[in-house]
Amino acid sequence: MTVSCNHEGLNRWVKEVAAMCKPARVEWCDGSKEEYDRLMALMVEQGGATPLKKRPNSFAFCSDPSDVARVEDQTYISTPTQDEAGPTNNWMDPDELKPRMLELYDGCMGGRTMYVIPFSMGPVGSPLAKIGVEITDSPYVVCNMHIMTRVGSRVLEVLGTDGEFVPCLHSIGAPLKPGQKDVTWPCAPLEKKYISHFPQENTIWSYGSGYGGNALLGKKCLALRIASAIARREGWMAEHMLILRLTSPEGKQYHIGGAFPSACGKTNLAMLRPTIPGWKVETIGDDIAWMKVGPDGRLYAINPEAGFFGVAPGTSYETNPMAMDTLKENCIFTNCALTDDGDIWWEGMDGPVPSHAIDWKCRDWTPESPEAAAHPNARFTAPASQCPTISPDWENPEGVPIDIFIFGGRRTSVVPLVHEAFNWNHGVFLGATAASETTAANIGAVGNLRRDPFAMKPFCGYNMGDYFHHWFDMGDRLGEKAPRIFYVNWFRQTPDGRWLWPGFGENSRVLKWMCDRVDGTVGAKETPIGLMPEEGGLDISGLDVSAEDMTELLTVDTEAMKAEIPDIQAHFDQFGDRLPGRLRKELGKLKERLERS
Ligand code: GTP
Ligand code: SPV
Ligand code: MN
Repeated sequence: MTVSCNHEGLNRWVKEVAAMCKPARVEWCDGSKEEYDRLMALMVEQGGATPLKKRPNSFAFCSDPSDVARVEDQTYISTPTQDEAGPTNNWMDPDELKPRMLELYDGCMGGRTMYVIPFSMGPVGSPLAKIGVEITDSPYVVCNMHIMTRVGSRVLEVLGTDGEFVPCLHSIGAPLKPGQKDVTWPCAPLEKKYISHFPQENTIWSYGSGYGGNALLGKKCLALRIASAIARREGWMAEHMLILRLTSPEGKQYHIGGAFPSACGKTNLAMLRPTIPGWKVETIGDDIAWMKVGPDGRLYAINPEAGFFGVAPGTSYETNPMAMDTLKENCIFTNCALTDDGDIWWEGMDGPVPSHAIDWKCRDWTPESPEAAAHPNARFTAPASQCPTISPDWENPEGVPIDIFIFGGRRTSVVPLVHEAFNWNHGVFLGATAASETTAANIGAVGNLRRDPFAMKPFCGYNMGDYFHHWFDMGDRLGEKAPRIFYVNWFRQTPDGRWLWPGFGENSRVLKWMCDRVDGTVGAKETPIGLMPEEGGLDISGLDVSAEDMTELLTVDTEAMKAEIPDIQAHFDQFGDRLPGRLRKELGKLKERLERS
C-alpha cells in the first residue's frame, strides 16, 4: 500500500531527518497486517525473530545484553533552564544536548530502512487523542508500535494538511557499512544511548536503544513525559496509572486509577480475578491514564495505548490468568527463554520447569544453570483487545469516571497493606512521598528504596514541584467530586523473605474495602498515617492468612514511620520554593500525629 501525506510540515521533517540519518531507503508505514507480516518475515530471515510453534503469529526476540530496560541515567528533560526540569530529572541544556545528538544522528541509519510511523495515542480522532509520528530504523519497533498504538493511514487523514503532531525521532544507532553483516539486535553501546525530551517544542529524540520505553516512543516519552507537560499547561493529567472497572454483586460500578512504579503490579491489578464472590473486574488500561474533568465535574480517564508491554517473569495462570489468555497469539516476546518444543518460558510460569531451554542470551540452559533463563525485565507485547477482561468501554472516547486513586509501591517492610488518605491534600502528600524498592524495569541496582512520587519520578516532563502544585489545583477544581485516595503495599515480607500477603486475586478484598469506604458502609480507624480497616472491616472470609500475619499487615510501625521523617524532609527540601506549602503542612501534621501516638 502506498501512503500519501499532504502535511507539508511532516514531509519537510521526514526529508530533513533522511538527509541527516542517510538511510538506504525510506518507507512510510500504513499499519496494515501485510506490513506487519512482511517486516516480521524480514526479521525471521535475518535471524532476529523466532516464530513460536505453540503460539500462532507470535515471535520471540532476544536483545543485546546492554539493551534490556529503560535507561533513566541517560534520559533527559532538556528545557532551557534546569529549574524547569527540576531536581528529579536529568537535565542538559538543549544547546549542549542537541549538537551532541546531531553528531550521533549523522549517518546513523546507513544501510538501513528508515520507517515513518504515524500513530495515535487514544482512539483515532478522539478529542482526547494525540498524534505522534515516529521515525525509526528498527523494524522491531515498527511491529511493536503496531500493537501498542494505533498506526496507519487513518492517522494521516486526521492530521490533514496542518494538524499538530509530536515528532519522535528514534535510531538504534548502528549504521551498516556496505557489505557489513548485521547482528540480531543492533544498538549503540550503553554510554551512547540518549533518551531526550524537549517539552517546550513537544519533541522527542531517542538514540542507541531498541528496548521498550527507550524506543517505543508513544509510551513513556510521549504519553507520559511530553503529555504530562502538555497536561499541566492545558489543565488535565497524564499519569502512570492502570485503569480498571470494578462491579459489585449489586451491579454498582467503581472506576479505579492506580499508580505504582514500574514492575510493581499495575498490569496484574488491571486484570485481577477477584477471589471474593460476585465481584467483577474489567480492564481499561495497564500503564497510562490521561484524565480530564468532564462536563459533570468528575474526572474521566482514557487509556492512550492499544496494547500491553508487560513484565513476563512471574506471569502465570495462578497469578494472572487473564494475561496468560491474552498471550495465546499475535504477540511479541522479548528476552524470554525458548523451550525445545518451540514455545517461550520464564521463571514463575505454570507447569514443570523445562529440563532444557535456550536462555535470553542464546545459551543452553538447565535448571542447574546459575542464571535465570529469562531476563527479569523480559516483556510481552500483546494487543489489549485480546484480553478476556477488556472492558467494552476501553476505547470509549469520553473515558470512564474515576472514583478511587490508589498509590503504592514495593516495600518489604514498614508500610501496611492499606491505608486511606484523610482528604485530598493528605492524599497528595501520600502520592508525593511514595517510596518503592527499585526493580529491573530500569538499568541499575535493584532493591534500593527510593522516593518515586506518584510513580512518576522517571516520567514527569517538568519540575516535580510544579507537578505537585498541579495535583492540588486539580483537587481544588474537582472539589467534592475528587476521587478518594488510598495507599497500598502488596509486597510485605517476613525477615526470611516469605510474602505476608498472597496478593494478585486476593487484592480484590482490599479493593472491596475501598468501595465500601466510598459508599460509607464500613468504618475506619484513625492512625497517624491515615485511615485503616477496623477489626473485621476487611473481608477475609476464606482467606488463608494467619491472624498474626494479618495483624502484622495492618499495624502501623510508629517508630519506623518516625525514622522516615528526615528522608521525607530531605525529599521535600530538594524542591525549594517550588514545594507547595500544603505539602509542608501535611508533613508537619504527620509528625505531630506520630509524636502523639
Ligand atoms: P510496568 O509494566 O513496569 O509498569 O510494571 P507493572 O506495574 O505493570 O507490574 P506488573 O503487574 O507487571 O508486576 C510486576 C511483577 O510484580 C510481576 O512479576 C508480578 O508477578 C509481581 N506482582 C504483581 N502483583 C503482585 C502482588 O499482588 N503480589 C506479589 N507478591 N507480586 C505481584
Ligand atoms: C515501565 O518501566 O514502567 C514500563 C516498561 O512500563 S517501559 O515501556 O520499558 O517503560
Ligand atoms: Mn509502566
